Amino acid sequence: MSVQATKTRVRSLLSRIVVREEDELERRLSGGLELVEKRLAECAGQATDPYVADVVGYLVAAGGKRLRPLLTLLAAEFGDPRAPGVVEAAVVSELVHAASLHHDDVMDEARIRHGVPSVNARWGNSVAVMAGNWLLATSARLSAELVREAVPLHSRASERLVRGQMLELLGPMGGDGPLPHYFGVVSDKSASLLSLSLQLGALQSGASAEVGHALAEYGEQLGVAFQISDDLLDITSPSAVTGKEQGKDLSVGVAGLPVLLALTGADPRDDELRALLDSPAGVTGEDHRRALALLRESAAMDRARTLRDERLDMARSALRGLSAGPPLRALEALCDVVATRTE
Ligand code: FPP
Ligand code: MG
Repeated sequence: MSVQATKTRVRSLLSRIVVREEDELERRLSGGLELVEKRLAECAGQATDPYVADVVGYLVAAGGKRLRPLLTLLAAEFGDPRAPGVVEAAVVSELVHAASLHHDDVMDEARIRHGVPSVNARWGNSVAVMAGNWLLATSARLSAELVREAVPLHSRASERLVRGQMLELLGPMGGDGPLPHYFGVVSDKSASLLSLSLQLGALQSGASAEVGHALAEYGEQLGVAFQISDDLLDITSPSAVTGKEQGKDLSVGVAGLPVLLALTGADPRDDELRALLDSPAGVTGEDHRRALALLRESAAMDRARTLRDERLDMARSALRGLSAGPPLRALEALCDVVATRTE
């Protein structure tokens, strides 16, 4: 991907959540996202060593749909969207996300991210971990310049990201069932950051505490739904569309929701799949291809979609107390985007 590809993805996402008649909101959001892009590039450029600047700027420049900054900017629409620091809060959201992807790709041994070789594939694991640390440290420095509440929220969300990832590694413990364990993991590793992105926008724009709480809860539910859709796409979507290797969860032995539902269910049509998946180290080669094909046909896919849609309903319900208007409609439309995601 590239700067142009990022622009196209950002524009495409915006066009799905803001209708033409709401062009004032559209203008503000796209203007804000352009400033975010500029600031992200500046942040990487501020690395004192050119080699460090190259590494830390690489993945951010490679692309993404900038969902988290968009959430920050949308949340700020419930206060004063032009308040100082709103764009910087959106930058913080993306930097934490980028940091977490560097570490995640090391853990998942991913070779591709955003359609380009991952940082670990290009520079090795140690450099990728350090680049992630640099981005997280930079996000912490920027958050210290935002409203007072930003630092504790930023550190709490970072803690939750790490906790979710650790619990995913450890698997269910102490009588925790596989499904409650899964939902605990994804709420920490994914939803925490969507929620933080919204909370930062609400706080920085001076929106009321009630609005902040509603948006935080919306982010928690949207984030779980988003991760379920990610798990589904890992099975259904080709690498050329997602910019990641297809079936990565399976090959590294991480059970996404459809896999978990097939493994814990008793559907006899999933017997062959269960036999193939019975390897904690992951499934590779011909078994991997076969497992993906069986999964696509499994009823577990529709059960996962139902659980995703339940979360999206919960996300929509969280918005009930917010004032009607284009920003609220955009947040609702984002739920539809997550329900129909293909990338
Ligand atoms: C992607 O999950 C990864 C995350 C949502 C979070 C990763 C968090 C960490 C590695 C903890 C460290 C955090 C910081 C802030 C440095 P995935 O593997 O299911 O999705 P993918 O298909 O995009 O790889
Ligand atoms: Mg991963």
